[in-house]
Amino acid sequence: MKREAVLITGANGEIGHGLIDYLQQKCDFDIIAMDIQPLDESLSAYCHQFIQGNILDVKLLNEIANQYPIRTVYHLASLLSTGAEKNPELAHNVNVNGTFNLLKMADILGEKSGVATKFIYPSSIAAYGLPGIKEKMSAGKVTEDQYISSTITLYGINKLYCENLGRYFMDYYGQIQPEGARKNVDFRAVRFPGLISAITLPTGGTTDYGPEMIHAAAQNKPYACFVRPDTRLPFMVMPDAIKSLILLEAAPKASLTQTVYNVTSFSPTAQELVDIVKGAFPDAQIAYKVDESRQRFVDTWPVDIDDSAARRDWGWAPEYDQDRAFYELLIPAVKQRYGTKIGH
Ligand code: SER
Repeated sequence: MKREAVLITGANGEIGHGLIDYLQQKCDFDIIAMDIQPLDESLSAYCHQFIQGNILDVKLLNEIANQYPIRTVYHLASLLSTGAEKNPELAHNVNVNGTFNLLKMADILGEKSGVATKFIYPSSIAAYGLPGIKEKMSAGKVTEDQYISSTITLYGINKLYCENLGRYFMDYYGQIQPEGARKNVDFRAVRFPGLISAITLPTGGTTDYGPEMIHAAAQNKPYACFVRPDTRLPFMVMPDAIKSLILLEAAPKASLTQTVYNVTSFSPTAQELVDIVKGAFPDAQIAYKVDESRQRFVDTWPVDIDDSAARRDWGWAPEYDQDRAFYELLIPAVKQRYGTKIGH
């Protein structure tokens, strides 16, 4: 009999890298990776199977469902917020129709195995839409159900819809049939803040100024930050993002009181990030060149998010606060990665 497997879509992306690197140490299931591009070489040794393909290809997804006993889908493939605004039709197709296809695939897998397929979905702070900078600054920690009716980015709207779509597949898909809802999917979502990895850079996101400035400084490249110095947003480092996905996947279903959970760690301003980066890389050349559109997006995203439900229901807590994130993880790791002189 084939070993159980997990499917990771968007395997080449930032979260994909971190997740595959983590899961390969576990070894009690097969990792099936999927991406539209050829798999990054650094990942290929860790994956039992790589499928280069498109999540809009339903025939391919059916073949995968027939071939592998997948117990968990980590659906990471997505166009991020800035990228989605540049190509709305593609973003809708990938972010929404792709997710629909994968949920249907998870339903087929659950039907076959008799156990609901776990579907782990990274949602985002982009789901929020605070009405203006005044509200952003006074809202405090926002809970999962606040400020989600005036979201302004397509990506955020895609994420909100797919949070609901997942809940629908979990509880209501097939409800019109005489035998009732199929309940073959166990859908669980986290809303991530901006993510910073020492290994990879995101593409097409709007929180990218955080990771970009540290990677640029470590390579001695000038960087122009595209948001104002006073812009404050929540962030976390990649190991904590992976930790949250793993904890949520492993949580007993009975302990979950909601389908979507906030997770976060620290909330610096852009200028605080600049100061930290300049402290570590004194020659860093960081300027500001504000992009008004991207600024508008982040002005509707909260300063801080309330992750108490995740803490209560599945024991979530970040390992890295701001100091640990930079001084113990990111700065040493990017210095090593780019061979930046120690003490410089
Ligand atoms: N990092 C994402 C973006 O900026 C937000 O989830 O699009």
